[in-house]
Order: sequence, then C-alpha cells, then structure tokens
Amino acid sequence: MSALVRACSVDDVAPESAIPVEVPRNGSRLELAIVHSNGAFYAIADECSHASIPLSEGDVGDDEIECYLHGSRFDLRTGEPIGLPATEPVPIYRCLVEGNDVLVDVSAPIISGGDDPPDSPRSFVNISHTQEF
Ligand code: FES
Repeated sequence: MSALVRACSVDDVAPESAIPVEVPRNGSRLELAIVHSNGAFYAIADECSHASIPLSEGDVGDDEIECYLHGSRFDLRTGEPIGLPATEPVPIYRCLVEGNDVLVDVSAPIISGGDDPPDSPRSFVNISHTQEF
C-alpha cells in the first residue's frame, strides 16, 4: 500500500542538483535527498552508505549523485554505488510529480540498502515520473 507524501515543490530543486527534505513516516521522520537529474526526480536516503554523510550535499549528474567526502557515486535509479569506497546501496523511494509537487511513497524503499528494514525485494523497479511541470 502506497503512502504518498509531499516532499517539496518542483521549483525547489534546480536541474542537476539535490535538496535535503524530511518527510513523515510511521510517526517519525525520514531524511531524504530529492534529486533532479536529466529531467527526472528521485528520492534517495540522505545518508551515504560508507559513512554518515548527507548525499544531498553532493554533486549531481547523469542520474548519479556523488558523495562529497570520498567521492563514491550512487545510481539514482537503483541506489547502487558506482565507485569505491562505498560498497552498499542506499535506499531509494518511488518518486513522482503531480502538478508542481514532488511526491514520495514512504511506505517502503523500492530498493532497500543499508540498515533499512528488508520489507521490499531487492530488485530493480521502474520509477514512474511525470515529466510535465
Ligand atoms: S562518506 Fe561517502 S564515500 Fe565515504
């Protein structure tokens, strides 16, 4: 069952950049990086899997985000690290655009990385995006 919450406005995230957001989930707060790359929006846990560094402060390009501390890059479609030193994926969440709002399904990560509960299968899932805004 999906649990869509509004994360931000489309206009809040410039192309090829990311912002930190906190959204409600199960009575607590979930820290996410909302990323805008190649015309699509992504929601990825805002913590590098190598150390506790916010990914939202990293560089964005070509559907990837780079951790500023040691330079590991993560695929925004899968959460998988592309380069060392990170070796574990970062949880990603289904993200879509409705009107001017960026919405995130916080019910469960579509790719569960790190210590997030394994409540969804670890397989690639297409992320739906509405490109009109
Ligand atoms: S803290 Fe992110 S790559 Fe090391």
